[in-house]
Amino acid sequence: MENFTAYNPTILHFGKNVIDKLPAHLDKVGKNVLLLTGQGSVKKYGYFYQVVEKLQQTGKNIIEFSGIKPNPIVDDAEKAVKLAQQHQVDFIVALGGGSVIDTAKMVNMAYANNQPVWDIMKRQVNPVKKVALFVILTLAATGTEMNGAAVLQNHQTQEKIGYFSQLMYPDVSFLDPEFTFTVPKNQTVNGIIDLIAHSLEAFFSGGNAPLSDRFVASNILETFDYAPALLNDLTNYDLRARMMWTATVAENGTTMHARTTAGDWGTHALAHHISLLWDTPHGQTLSVMFPAWMKAMSYKIAPQLKYLGTLLTGKSNIKPEETIQIFEDFFVNIGAPVKFEQLGLSNQDKQKLLNLWHKNKPTGLNVTLNENDYQNIISFL
Ligand code: NZQ
Ligand code: ZN
Repeated sequence: MENFTAYNPTILHFGKNVIDKLPAHLDKVGKNVLLLTGQGSVKKYGYFYQVVEKLQQTGKNIIEFSGIKPNPIVDDAEKAVKLAQQHQVDFIVALGGGSVIDTAKMVNMAYANNQPVWDIMKRQVNPVKKVALFVILTLAATGTEMNGAAVLQNHQTQEKIGYFSQLMYPDVSFLDPEFTFTVPKNQTVNGIIDLIAHSLEAFFSGGNAPLSDRFVASNILETFDYAPALLNDLTNYDLRARMMWTATVAENGTTMHARTTAGDWGTHALAHHISLLWDTPHGQTLSVMFPAWMKAMSYKIAPQLKYLGTLLTGKSNIKPEETIQIFEDFFVNIGAPVKFEQLGLSNQDKQKLLNLWHKNKPTGLNVTLNENDYQNIISFL
């Protein structure tokens, strides 16, 4: 096992009506709150009004910024920073999925430190302060509710990149599975893919971390178990709760201790380019990219693929390609795309993707990628 430091400062309330606990956290955070939301679902389904009621109960002055799009962009974050400055907000509440929460994290950094969002993300400046961030999650997928990461797109520089800071862990997150009942089936599928992908990114890190490996396998097996039932019963509380918790656990550190790298993330880095070019939902880019990456990188990761297959099946003589097949079959069974053309994209688009990879040089932290690997991955898409 490697040396490691365990750190996760987020207080997480999980279960029915946890939003009732919000007022008790608000007595020391000032009066002006920036409330960030997406493109309307929280109003349509009423979550917005529940949160507003709690904020008003405690005498807060709400400054609203709405309209954050899926695959969020740096321009929206900058607009929200201006609004925060104009009203001198004291704290931030993010109500939504990963896109809203990630934007809120970067707005927090830029506002509290008076630094441009993109300069922070490119690590040209170093934020040292934050204001309090409260998160009310409406979509299980990214794990951003209990980690210090955020991902934004910048169309000027043609990048979709992540940024991590210990300052960005939410102070308190509220996870009520009932807030996810309205997530449509296709978006639920996207969330399932994302949490499986996060479990795999952790698994393909470096180092010897047996317990973390078993957490990964358990999280994946748990997901294989509830996913088909959930997709036929989207308002089943227990199934939604199981999904919500597996999504958090996939990305809150549980699967990471004792590893040499902070995940692999090569597949994510490659897949982000599809979202950047065609605004494809994050989950769909991963069910296409992960099988292709595993096939193309099999020459480097065959032992890990066999070990993962053994953890998942209990059998000792699993071949690498059988492990890959387990994931491909699962994605197909839940109705996820596994081929590039199922995203509505063509062979010419593959070339565009390859060109952008050559320009930005995405790679993994453990399994490094070269120009030949790009070509091979493209051939498996
Ligand atoms: O915009 P609204 O109207 O809110 O609708 C959203 C959006 O259209 C909708 N939705 C959310 N909650 C709902 C709902 N619809 C009905 N009922 C509800 N309760 O779902 C759509 C997708 O929302 P989004 O926030 O974009 O999804 P997700 O949570 O999957 O976030 C994806 C973003 O997170 C990044 C991704 O790259 C992508 O930009 N990631 C963030 C990570 C992190 N911070 O740790 C890690 C991930 O790997 C990922 O990269
Ligand atoms: Zn992801």
